[in-house]
Amino acid sequence: MAALICALRPVCRGGTVQTQPSREAELSIPLDRGITQLPSAGAAPAGHSVTLAACAVFWKRHPGQTPPGSTPSRARLAAGLRRAGRALAARALAMLAGCQSAGSGGAGGMWAAAPLPLLLLLLLGLLLLLLLLLPPLARLCRRGAARLEPAGRAVLITGCDSGFGHLLALRLHRLGFTVFAGCLCPGGDGARRLQREAGGAGRLRVLRLDVTRARDVRAAKELVLSQLPERGFWGLVNNAGISTFGETGWLPMETYEKFADVNLLGSIRTTLAFLPLLRKYKGRIVFMSSIIAYFTLGNGIYSMTKAAIEKFCDALRLEMKKFGVQVCIIQPGNYARSTKIQPPLSAEEIWSELSEEEKAVYNKEYVQERADFFNSILSEGSTNGNEVVDAMVDALTSPAPKARYMVAKLKEKALVFVCALFPTVVMDAVLSYALSKVKLA
Ligand SMILES: NC(=O)c1ccc[n+]([C@@H]2O[C@H](COP(=O)([O-])OP(=O)(O)OC[C@H]3O[C@@H](n4cnc5c(N)ncnc54)[C@H](OP(=O)(O)O)[C@@H]3O)[C@@H](O)[C@H]2O)c1
Repeated sequence: MAALICALRPVCRGGTVQTQPSREAELSIPLDRGITQLPSAGAAPAGHSVTLAACAVFWKRHPGQTPPGSTPSRARLAAGLRRAGRALAARALAMLAGCQSAGSGGAGGMWAAAPLPLLLLLLLGLLLLLLLLLPPLARLCRRGAARLEPAGRAVLITGCDSGFGHLLALRLHRLGFTVFAGCLCPGGDGARRLQREAGGAGRLRVLRLDVTRARDVRAAKELVLSQLPERGFWGLVNNAGISTFGETGWLPMETYEKFADVNLLGSIRTTLAFLPLLRKYKGRIVFMSSIIAYFTLGNGIYSMTKAAIEKFCDALRLEMKKFGVQVCIIQPGNYARSTKIQPPLSAEEIWSELSEEEKAVYNKEYVQERADFFNSILSEGSTNGNEVVDAMVDALTSPAPKARYMVAKLKEKALVFVCALFPTVVMDAVLSYALSKVKLA
């Protein structure tokens, strides 16, 4: 016969007190029968068990006495029950006090009774919240620091013929920076407009800079070094970029090479050239990525270059920390209507570029549908390019720049969230749904 280590542990749930076995009151009770009834005087066989309630009734009537018919073992049982009763009462009082304080505003009693996994989950949630809130809070604190003085500092921007680069060059010039505006065509409309809008001031210098040409990059560096203002070289903005649309097999290898050269290697080439200057002046490097780095909707060729540049930046950002150089990534959503990045493409244009093998697989109707789909996305693009330029300016001038600036509509951010955090199968389901309007006949 095993001895039951019985206890009466009150657990408070919803303000009621329940009893559970605990080790606090040790009772020798026949385990096989359980405590069921109070034996009547002289009638109970040895080892017959009693209920706590029945004993309590007996003790109320005959305080200090042993229940009738008790054998020596019964006497021990009764004494044990008395101890257990006292323990129960004490615990119940303590728990009730806890519940009352919980009811009157304190949650101590409730938490004490909550299951451990729930508490751990809550703790984890709080930790996550803290982690999410920490970066913006830290930024908020650092924002109090003195803002940057642009006068006497130089910034080089690539791809200033049009779009964000063009707008940024004018904005930084207005703020007082010395701007080196790299243009693909320094004699073209964009470059001329830039000089006209800057009022011909000496602080905005247009230079020829094709980021795919090493000698252009070298020449740009020499020019910057020869005309460096008193506070030195502050920022490099890798903005130049190209875009197109088409299923993977539709585009020839040369197009892939060109995209890698402009969007990825062009930024790397320019960064490597200016890195010593940036380290020397503890400057900033800004890269133009895109939300398209997270997913692709018929423009995988563009996506891949943006995803690659994100990883290049991630490595660079960590490595440059020790030199005080900050690296920021701008991730615009769809701003196709505010720049020249991607004019609408006609189905005829796409079809005429397809190889005979591709034409044998796809038909004109399919290409037409894909073009319509892509062009409809472009037509939804935001027209306020200044939102993106605001982020670029913040990255260059804020005392606490962000590592990433996502400038996009809520639904674009939601898509990024799904693609970045959910399993690939979820991402594929969402994107397939978006593409499902287009059928291969
Ligand atoms: N607009 C958007 O919706 C959007 C969204 C996400 C990210 N972005 C990124 O933002 C950046 C700026 O694009 P944007 O929208 O302002 O388009 P954009 O108006 O076409 O500007 C891109 C600039 O890069 C220039 N460029 C092209 N190839 C070059 C080369 N090899 N070397 C130097 N410059 C070159 C272009 O010159 P030409 O005009 O002479 O070709 C143009 O001035 C790009 O990196 C783009 O990927 C744009």
